[in-house]
Amino acid sequence: MSKQEKNEAGNKGYFAHESAYVDQPCDIGEGTKIWHFCHIMKNSRIGRYCILGQNVNVASGVVIGNNVKIQNNVSIYTGAIIEDDVFLGPSCVLTNVTNPRSQIVRHGLFEKTVIKRGATIGANATIVCGIELGRYCFIAAGAVVAKNVPDYALMQGVPAKQVGWMSRHGHRLKKQGSSGTLVCPESGFQYREMSPGVLKCIDWDEEVPLTKVMSGGKVLYDDLKTKEFHVFE
Ligand SMILES: CC(C)(COP(=O)(O)OP(=O)(O)OC[C@H]1O[C@@H](n2cnc3c(N)ncnc32)[C@H](O)[C@@H]1OP(=O)(O)O)[C@@H](O)C(=O)NCCC(=O)NCCS
Repeated sequence: MSKQEKNEAGNKGYFAHESAYVDQPCDIGEGTKIWHFCHIMKNSRIGRYCILGQNVNVASGVVIGNNVKIQNNVSIYTGAIIEDDVFLGPSCVLTNVTNPRSQIVRHGLFEKTVIKRGATIGANATIVCGIELGRYCFIAAGAVVAKNVPDYALMQGVPAKQVGWMSRHGHRLKKQGSSGTLVCPESGFQYREMSPGVLKCIDWDEEVPLTKVMSGGKVLYDDLKTKEFHVFE
């Protein structure tokens, strides 16, 4: 039996490239694709319709939701919980020990990092462990995040600071008139700061998936900096 056939053995409906190692037991959902040179370690759980790019490592005990996109060269260490619809950019770094020392064995003392539904982590960003990244937050490329991040917050720099709000569709939120709502230039969804630092979408519940029409991106990011293009009003 070839390695690819072994990876697909038990045929749970996922695909693993023949160069990937998938240790057993592990739980991988239907429609998930695992590309070249990945290593999935035992007792990990990966949901449905995820994509793991080249050279992704998923350690034992990691839990990954559905529709998670993981770009090349990402290691997800024990202690990470990645909810549905998360995007992990190329070569971003997650950690699981705040004070690692080679001489001190801290197996079993791994810290938890929770990346909530729909969050994006940009290329090369680093997430220091023991924190929670809120739903649909957006971590800029190269940022270093060491504190909890609110839902929809756009975090940038080293150390990362909140520089604005990013919509569920991944656009800077702009003020609309005097009503105090913020509007996504692509979807037209309105957002409101319910209390200082707490943003909610008024038009679509954070936990409800988007429809197919709503998830088709049609406009370049820069084109929406100056224009508005509400695709599904
Ligand atoms: C955060 C991000 C969305 C901002 O994009 P933007 O709105 O076009 O930002 P702008 O280019 O208008 O820059 C606005 C300011 O932020 C700065 N800036 C932009 N990106 C930055 C970043 N990643 N880190 C630090 N500063 C950044 C710019 O230098 C500029 O500063 P200035 O006002 O002092 O001149 C984008 O830079 C980013 O990091 N995207 C993630 C890309 C990625 O990792 N993709 C992975 C899939 S391939």
